[in-house]
Amino acid sequence: MHIKWSLDAAKTTLQCTVTSNSMTWVGIGWHPANSTGADYKDMFDVDFTIAVFSSGTPVITDRRSNITSVDGKTAPVLDTSIGGTNDVFMTSGSQVGGVTSFTFSKKLITEDKVADHPIEVRTMYHVIIAHGTEEAFGYHSNVFRGHWLVNWFSGENGPCSNC
Ligand code: HEM
Repeated sequence: MHIKWSLDAAKTTLQCTVTSNSMTWVGIGWHPANSTGADYKDMFDVDFTIAVFSSGTPVITDRRSNITSVDGKTAPVLDTSIGGTNDVFMTSGSQVGGVTSFTFSKKLITEDKVADHPIEVRTMYHVIIAHGTEEAFGYHSNVFRGHWLVNWFSGENGPCSNC
């Protein structure tokens, strides 16, 4: 899997493409590095964007870590189910020849103060990615996931320090 991203000239909007060599759901998530706990808590306190293609039409959703699990390691919930709003917009999505890819845009700072993490000029964000074992959204297996540290503004990135 890999991601590519850019910010608009005004530095108000993120555009991000997530690509996977699989015909499955694919997703990305982030939280400010070390602001809410150790980096190794990958699924904890995360702002997710997930794309599911099983209906034939790509559907993306804005999600948040599920607080019913102490470490977040269970299905992320819809922002709209916890008092937040859907703030992700798909600009393209495809599943062709064993490759799934989607591009979405999102304001760096949304009005959703409940379920979104603002993307601000700061050092690093802890970014996680995953894809499923099938089209339906569910556990990704203990293989199809990853994490690293990213500075959305400068492009600097590297391995997680504690994970
Ligand atoms: C229905 C959805 C999901 C379920 C049920 C789920 C469940 C789990 C579980 C049980 C673990 C611990 C076992 C393991 O390490 O594999 C885990 C770890 C992990 N998950 Fe998820 N997950 C889901 C979605 C996601 C999504 C959407 C992402 C990223 C966008 C993600 C990223 C990760 C990462 C990076 C780890 C490694 C954690 C660590 O090493 O501490 N997961 N997940």
